[in-house]
Amino acid sequence: MHIESGNPQDTAASARPRIGRRALLSAGAVLAAGAGAAAATALGRDPAAAPAATPPAVVPHHGARQSGLTYRQLPATRLLALDLPEAADRDALRGLLAAVDKVLAAAADGSLADPRLSAAPISSLAAVGPALAARLKLPAPAELAELPAFPGDRLDAGRSGGDLLLQVSAEHPWTTGVLTEHLLAAAKPSGATLRWNQAGFLPSVPDGETPRNLFGFKDGSANPDPADPGLWNADGTILVYRRIRMDTAAFAALPADRQELSMGRRLMSGAPLTGAAEHDDPDIYVKHPDGSYVIPVDAHVRLSSPRLDGGARMLRRGYSYDDTPDDRGLLFCAFMRDPALFTRVQNRLAANDALNPFLTHTASATAWVLPGSHPDRPLGATL
Ligand code: HEM
Repeated sequence: MHIESGNPQDTAASARPRIGRRALLSAGAVLAAGAGAAAATALGRDPAAAPAATPPAVVPHHGARQSGLTYRQLPATRLLALDLPEAADRDALRGLLAAVDKVLAAAADGSLADPRLSAAPISSLAAVGPALAARLKLPAPAELAELPAFPGDRLDAGRSGGDLLLQVSAEHPWTTGVLTEHLLAAAKPSGATLRWNQAGFLPSVPDGETPRNLFGFKDGSANPDPADPGLWNADGTILVYRRIRMDTAAFAALPADRQELSMGRRLMSGAPLTGAAEHDDPDIYVKHPDGSYVIPVDAHVRLSSPRLDGGARMLRRGYSYDDTPDDRGLLFCAFMRDPALFTRVQNRLAANDALNPFLTHTASATAWVLPGSHPDRPLGATL
């Protein structure tokens, strides 16, 4: 269930009043009516013009759950992993989270004073890593834990883990870059240091369409509804992050039917090999007359099928990344109540996935995505 108040890409007309509003707010002053009209004129708007019928699309920052999970996936993302000083206590963490929350709330409602921020929706999330949760004895879900090692892992410790994971998403990397500056400035007084940061992106697709990954397949088709109670633990959940390098050239060299058999879905429509439309449920038990499975035994959607996990699903909100021509792939970001689900699926994939020759897992993290914040109860207030 999305909580957006409108499609921010709808019309240029619906975006225009936000530019004026955001610029006015970021001027940092409560302007008298006359001064407001003058400012509006200076910004190129006719103060006498009728207000736009469509209300501005602002992503609500405050809510039971964080917007980085409930809002539609915005096409540009930035992940930041911070480490806290060894001596940091719960007060230090609460102070850091409150400072981060202030920046994110202001960025979301347009009141962050920065001329570089334009009228664009912003979504975000903050999550606490298992080592910090254990060190500070935080009331984290019992399921929060590091992942085990998997066969084939080539993990870079410098790009993995972290005490605090932040994710900001927007329409454009410009915005996530500017927000990164503000977040790091807000984190500085706590002594937190940047462990790694990672940018990701999605191709722009009309709202409601599933974006493709760098293998060209639609990615996210079989996702559960983000409101599915099975994903949540008291309005928090657990993020599993994997940075997976993809050999796109070698995969693209396969004939299309081989690609489809590897995935278990059709390239263009995204339909499972057992169905006709993208959102048909892949049926891993259907066989050809010769007794072989229609979705092959090593197909990605067979090995990751919820039918092998008692129906349990994770919410995948991955992004592509493109750091160098040799290092491109998927930032696998999935949310679930218990990361043991990821471990079961990844063990099956690591053993048999037809995609394996084209994939290398290069980084990994898990983190407890905190419940959302309220104006009088910032992120982490209950820790
Ligand atoms: C770069 C690596 C990967 C690529 C390119 C990839 C791609 C895809 C694609 C195209 C689909 C089918 C469309 C959809 O339902 O979204 C899919 C489904 C899925 N993938 Fe992956 N995936 C990757 C890694 C992983 C990993 C590491 C996991 C978990 C361990 C995973 C778990 C799943 C799950 C649970 C489904 C849905 C299965 C279903 O409900 O039918 N994937 N993936």
